[in-house]
Amino acid sequence: MPVGKELKDMTFEDFCRTIFNTTKRFDKPETLKGIRVVSTTQYILGPASAAYLSELGAETIKIELPKRGEPMRHTTPFNEPFLYPLSRWMPDKGTGLGFFGANPNEYFLSLDFHKPEAIQIMKRLAAKTDVFCENYRAGTFDRWGIGARQHLQVNPRVIYQWMGGFGGWGPGRNRASYDILGQAQGGCFSITGWSKEYGGLPSKQTIWIMDYWGGAISAFNIIASLYWRDNVSGKGNFLEYSQVHGAQRHLTDFIALYGKTGVVAQRWGNWEPLLCVHGILKCGKSSYPNSKNPQEQEVGFCLVSAYKDEDFAKLCKLINRPDLAKQYPTHADRVGADAQVAIYPELEKWAADKTKEEVDKQCKAAGILSQPVWNSKEVSEQEHFHLRGTLAWIDDPTFGDVQTQGPAYLLSHTPPRVRWAFKPVGADNEYILSKLCGYSGSKIAELEAKEII
Ligand SMILES: CC(C)(COP(=O)(O)OP(=O)(O)OC[C@H]1O[C@@H](n2cnc3c(N)ncnc32)[C@H](O)[C@@H]1OP(=O)(O)O)[C@@H](O)C(=O)NCCC(=O)NCCS
Repeated sequence: MPVGKELKDMTFEDFCRTIFNTTKRFDKPETLKGIRVVSTTQYILGPASAAYLSELGAETIKIELPKRGEPMRHTTPFNEPFLYPLSRWMPDKGTGLGFFGANPNEYFLSLDFHKPEAIQIMKRLAAKTDVFCENYRAGTFDRWGIGARQHLQVNPRVIYQWMGGFGGWGPGRNRASYDILGQAQGGCFSITGWSKEYGGLPSKQTIWIMDYWGGAISAFNIIASLYWRDNVSGKGNFLEYSQVHGAQRHLTDFIALYGKTGVVAQRWGNWEPLLCVHGILKCGKSSYPNSKNPQEQEVGFCLVSAYKDEDFAKLCKLINRPDLAKQYPTHADRVGADAQVAIYPELEKWAADKTKEEVDKQCKAAGILSQPVWNSKEVSEQEHFHLRGTLAWIDDPTFGDVQTQGPAYLLSHTPPRVRWAFKPVGADNEYILSKLCGYSGSKIAELEAKEII
């Protein structure tokens, strides 16, 4: 689309505000409209891939075990259900908040794959589907007769994305997996957390970062395959993504370091092996001493980045230690372990009588990059995020007012959007089975009575 005079004359900020205007998302077309996705996914990895596609407008049908749904509905937090009802068969049970964010805009169908009629329904859906996503164990869907081989036979144009733990072949393939297992086996945790000298242990990520990342990569591969199918070959594709390989892909230089020198990378806690100063400082004063939340009563933390020589000199001046800038004038002088062990405690001595906001304010005033470490309350309160729609209150048709993360990216002409957070198990059984399988109301009632749906 040509850029009109009005947009051309704007500042860049106004241009972005106008062209991305997030309050007008629903007036614009969707990138993946017309693409149908069937998602038989569980926990976060598989659901995330389908979520990214449905945010972009794909018609996504999530299939779960009848009545109870997939395990993530019962997993968090503390196994208590929060959002009611779970399904029409279990109106007094709900879905855990962990289901949030990974299943937006979807239609919910329930099918028991142990029943032959459910397999027939899957084959009918395969014939009318562009994309199929699943993240069960290696070979589960193949065993049920609805895996990639069978799907591609029914519909050679289907894109079948399987997300698993370790891949479909090789001696390490045959195990259950979770994000945490992929990160442990892939090498991530060995370099996360403080070293032993600092009382540390390997540390896990609190968020399922590999699952969300794996979901994004899978969505990316699906879109690439749609391009290849529709513009090059006319053919479908079988795609495999594995948690452990995803984790390995993020080991930055550590694999090369070991390969080249035999050096095993160590844990560096909140410091950074390649850059100094580029880490998180402990600030001695709490920002909320009267808070009832014990974590808020604790001291705060602030990220400080001053690894360039001129920034490090500014930081040393700020903390009244210009001698450190003389002792460690270049990045090469600072980045080694001994130098970092000497430098960070001096910075923390300076921060000992300050809150994270005071450290941040003084760093910014000195021209140094910094950022207090925010908790979910502080994140939720940021006007910037709400203005840009990455955090939003939605009036969900089933659950009422809910605060949710919106898509993290914007497309000016075909923006992603969240229409609803999710629905109860099997909420769209009638809609989907009549629309895509041509089933009558009595046939659907029969399937329900036989506990096939
Ligand atoms: C998550 C995981 C460990 C669960 O393992 P699991 O439940 O033992 O095995 P599967 O996922 O293959 O699920 C098969 C079982 O799910 C149940 N099931 C789930 N949905 C079903 C449905 N719609 N219909 C029938 N059975 C269903 C059945 O009990 C079935 O086993 P069965 O055929 O032997 O009776 C495994 O799927 C896995 O490793 N996935 C890959 C990695 C991953 O994505 N992990 C989760 C994200 S962190």
